Amino acid sequence: MSIQVRKFSGGCGAEVLGVNIANLSNSDMDAVRQAYVDHGVIFFRDQKITEEEHIAFARRWGPININRFFPADQKYPEIAEVRKEKAQKTNIGGGWHTDHSYDVEPAMGSILVARQLPETGGDTLFANMYAAYDALSPGLKETLSHMRAIHSTAHVFGAGGFYQQTDPNNGMKTAHSDMPEATHPVVITHPESGRKALYVNPGFTVCFEGWTPMESKPLLDYLFAHAALPEFTCRFQWRDGSVAFWDNRATWHYAANDYHGQQRLMHRITIEGSALS
Ligand code: SIN
Repeated sequence: MSIQVRKFSGGCGAEVLGVNIANLSNSDMDAVRQAYVDHGVIFFRDQKITEEEHIAFARRWGPININRFFPADQKYPEIAEVRKEKAQKTNIGGGWHTDHSYDVEPAMGSILVARQLPETGGDTLFANMYAAYDALSPGLKETLSHMRAIHSTAHVFGAGGFYQQTDPNNGMKTAHSDMPEATHPVVITHPESGRKALYVNPGFTVCFEGWTPMESKPLLDYLFAHAALPEFTCRFQWRDGSVAFWDNRATWHYAANDYHGQQRLMHRITIEGSALS
């Protein structure tokens, strides 16, 4: 079967069919790369991928980022565990966000492999930041084109942050000193597609540069509500063998926390990125 790329929803993502990601020819790799650049998130089904193959596939895209907050797999430090145990109420990534926007050189994207799934629930939602940007008015696009925003992590991973407050035993490492913060343009030009994308997110963007948090809040809230409109999003239902690969420069994601009392374990490998402009 030859490779096929099929849009996953009207607004976001694509399914890539007819490939085994553990054994991609160079020409299939080019087609997968094009699908990733075009759609922001791509999904694969029925992959029987080992941890070693997951790492090898990730390395074809760039150097691997070892996450400073997530617990790593015991044997494979390149693999971060996204785990929720039966007794836990808080999940990891349970709100719209873009990974690593608090870094000066934010990670390019992550490859998430399902390892243990709840019977129902535990879907991941994605939102397309190209589409969100394209739908803004010319006036707001012009205003945003001159603005930068500050992205921070202390309120999430810091000592008094979200994970410590809601579930101190969830295995995430609490940051005490290394609490990165970065400033990026509010609208970026994607380094590979050349398209403009909205680059603020509810998880980590705290204010606009030169504006107070209070001044920033109304416009940020507007942008967050706009970008999460259903027409820019999709919802991926995991099955055994499912893999999602998202582009942090072009999408947000949200791990639905609707499976209390069941276990979910995902393996995530994150690939390094570069500064955005
Ligand atoms: C994440 O935010 O990386 C977690 C996504 C998921 O578990 O679905």
